[in-house]
Amino acid sequence: MTKKTMSGAGDHNILVVDDDSDIRVALEMLLKYEGFSVWTAKSGTEALQRLELEATAGNRASLVISDVKMPGLDGMGLLDALMEQPNSPPVVLVSGHADVPMAVEAVRKGALDFLEKPLDQNRVLVSVRSALRQGLLAQENQTLKARLAERYPLVGSSPAMEELRVHIERAAAAMAPILVTGENGTGKEVVARNLHMASDRAAGPFIAVNCAAIPAELIESELFGHEKGSFTGAFETRVGHFEAANGGTLFLDEIGDMPLAAQAKVLRALETREITRVGSTQSFEVDIRVVAATNADLAAAVEEKTFRMDLFFRLNVVPLRVPPLRDHIADVDELSAYFLKDLAARSGRANIGLSDDAKKLLRTTEYPGNVRQLRNLLEGAMVFSQGDQVRAADLAVILEGGPALATPNSTPGSDNEVFDVETFEEFKNQSEALFFRRKLDGNAGNVKRTAEELGMQRSHLYRKLERYDLRR
Ligand SMILES: Nc1ncnc2c1ncn2[C@@H]1O[C@H](COP(=O)(O)OP(=O)(O)OP(=O)(O)O)[C@@H](O)[C@H]1O
Ligand SMILES: [Mg+2]
Repeated sequence: MTKKTMSGAGDHNILVVDDDSDIRVALEMLLKYEGFSVWTAKSGTEALQRLELEATAGNRASLVISDVKMPGLDGMGLLDALMEQPNSPPVVLVSGHADVPMAVEAVRKGALDFLEKPLDQNRVLVSVRSALRQGLLAQENQTLKARLAERYPLVGSSPAMEELRVHIERAAAAMAPILVTGENGTGKEVVARNLHMASDRAAGPFIAVNCAAIPAELIESELFGHEKGSFTGAFETRVGHFEAANGGTLFLDEIGDMPLAAQAKVLRALETREITRVGSTQSFEVDIRVVAATNADLAAAVEEKTFRMDLFFRLNVVPLRVPPLRDHIADVDELSAYFLKDLAARSGRANIGLSDDAKKLLRTTEYPGNVRQLRNLLEGAMVFSQGDQVRAADLAVILEGGPALATPNSTPGSDNEVFDVETFEEFKNQSEALFFRRKLDGNAGNVKRTAEELGMQRSHLYRKLERYDLRR
């Protein structure tokens, strides 16, 4: 009999954890038959030991399949331990009928899936396949992010950018909080990272928090951390972003969207340099520099009483305004060259240039979505370009297709790509990503307006955009 294995299965090690030897053996046989290499462990503790041992030998697991109920360290404990490690393998849990609520909780905590006993072979293999795919994606994202973190150059030599650079240099040295303002896509985050890198905290952490992406009821615990059991759902003690940024910079993005109750606590933390975890009475000192950013008019928000005046004054000691692209349009050439080089490197293409007519067109295009829009336009045009140049005609395809097409992967007519998938799950994801990309582009990248148009909670929309990586 010839054995049909999953493609690439041999490259994957799967760790099966169960105290019940029947299930261990059954899973091991099934997965081995599919061509995977299988490790087994009888408990969470044994699983962690095995992973560590293999790691010292240079082997890593692509996936962990673990029972929920086990003596000693159980499946939930194992999941917690793994979630704390960087680059840990994805986890699929196996539960008896009675433990389903616990398994659901586990998925909320980061497990990829759960399987109910008695195990169905097909269901197991579907889950394994999708977990491996997602594991690979997560890994790619991590390396990408690590690479991105290496450098965030602020490109442009127009007077406006030179002035911004001087201001960054000066502001970086101070301890005071900094408020970065500017329209959508102008480069506020790039500025915040440059502030960090130019400061004497550059070796410390840079922690970015999108205040608009966190549901109001969770923001305090996200910022300040919480003690185990301090509220429903607080299963473990959690370190907040203020604590994580100790010795470095805390970037509070979209601060205009922070709920008033949280604003009061942030102000207090800025003034006392001390924080208290939710559910704790003990406070401790943190050494952080806060950089906040917003595209909202905070002074107007103060008038409307949606933003605290005292916090506004506290943050606005050192204001940094990032100009819209139309005010430094001379930088379009330099920015384009930088983006083309960067995009080519990312997609593994040879370096690509701009024809003269393309340069001219780029200088006369309007950019309500600012630098991000320019980047998206170039990324889209690259898809159509032939040879080593992007021409005006390639840009026109995107520009004439409307802003909705000025994004990667959405080549005209390619909506059909949502059908080029195997599973319903993938179909749903593809179409959802496409939908949000179009709506966002239709609003020049303005998340607030898009959320309003869609009648969606802004934090919910932000999570979608993050999930589909639609906001670079
Ligand atoms: N001066 C610049 N040099 C290089 N890249 C830039 C510059 N300005 C913006 N970018 C790029 O443009 C994109 C948008 O920048 P960024 O995310 O910093 O904007 P933002 O002002 O925070 O936008 P939003 O208001 O939507 O949050 C990113 O890909 C960023 O790398
Ligand atoms: Mg931003």
